Amino acid sequence: MFTPGRIGTMKVPNRFIRSATAEFGANPDGTVIDEYYELYKDLARGKVGLIIQGHLYIMDEGKAHEKMAGIVHDYHLKGLKQIVSTIHGTNSDSKVAAQLNHGGIHSVSKKAPSVLDGKEGYMMTEDDIESVIKSFGSAALKAKQIGYDAVQIHAAHGYLVSQFLSSKSNQRQDSWGGRLENKVKLLLEIYREIRSQTGSNYPVLVKINNSDEPREGFPVEEACKVTRWLADAGINAIEVSGNQSTRTKFEEEGYFTKNAKRIKEQIGDTPLSVVGGLRSIHTIQKIRQDYADFISLSRPFIREPDLVKKFQKGKKQADCISCNKCFSAPKIITCLEKEE
Ligand SMILES: Cc1cc2nc3c(=O)[nH]c(=O)nc-3n(C[C@H](O)[C@H](O)[C@H](O)COP(=O)(O)O)c2cc1C
Ligand code: SF4
Repeated sequence: MFTPGRIGTMKVPNRFIRSATAEFGANPDGTVIDEYYELYKDLARGKVGLIIQGHLYIMDEGKAHEKMAGIVHDYHLKGLKQIVSTIHGTNSDSKVAAQLNHGGIHSVSKKAPSVLDGKEGYMMTEDDIESVIKSFGSAALKAKQIGYDAVQIHAAHGYLVSQFLSSKSNQRQDSWGGRLENKVKLLLEIYREIRSQTGSNYPVLVKINNSDEPREGFPVEEACKVTRWLADAGINAIEVSGNQSTRTKFEEEGYFTKNAKRIKEQIGDTPLSVVGGLRSIHTIQKIRQDYADFISLSRPFIREPDLVKKFQKGKKQADCISCNKCFSAPKIITCLEKEE
């Protein structure tokens, strides 16, 4: 876990990834507040190999929740640039990626585009879809220009891209719905647009559900095919997650690890990371030795931004108890359990 790894052209100093974690602290216009810099300084000081910042909306209509930061307008960029320079200035080895997202039906906007033809949102037209694809591309270019080492497409957790992937939400009758080749088209076109905007050497990652269980609109067999196509298309890393990603109760550490292994079998040398309920260095090492190139954690780094250093010094188990109280932090994401 403590040796360097590669994601495309990017050298990551160790195998720990901080999975994207929304900070819930942005201003109403999507700009970040000063507390973001301290949060990211702590993670860089803690020697996290790759820090994936909380999801950023790529067009105003795609803002997924209040206090989410954006990467749309020029006024968004100053604060984001300062996050990047804070991380690089604190630890020149740590890498930072921008996670790009569109909330789809979960967007705050009343104009939320949707894949659904019916009650919620409105059915996206071809022009809407084209504009989403282009917006992912221009957001990625902005991210590259302000110094992010990589971008990650958010294709998990029920937001727009995963809404297209699941037949439970995607009931379109046109070339964007139905067969898997149609459902995946949005994701592949977003990837190609980002690639054409940022060039062949810029690291592009994707976070994707291992399946949409228990909904059965995107079974693991489909996740295996989609990730294989992404790997063939040149994606630089795949981070495997799933629905109900922030579980509070789980019998087994690492609730997506079995399906992540099936995915790894499909994608060959393309680096894979897995996230979800991993807490002990024993399990982390085991999965790493078995098949995973990287291991991703979210909540444990809220509680202990210096967890990598602690693991390296012999700590066995993260302190995070997966209670999810951090979602109620008043100003910016913090571990409320720790403060009690
Ligand atoms: C407060 C909070 C915010 C999150 N925000 C994001 C996000 O912006 N993007 C994302 O892909 N996942 C997000 N997640 C999910 C995490 O990245 C991760 O997939 C999930 O928490 C499971 O990992 P863990 O058990 O290590 O926390 C968030 C999780 C938490 C707790
Ligand atoms: S509030 Fe609970 S889930 Fe959140 S970081 Fe703290 S212990 Fe973990």
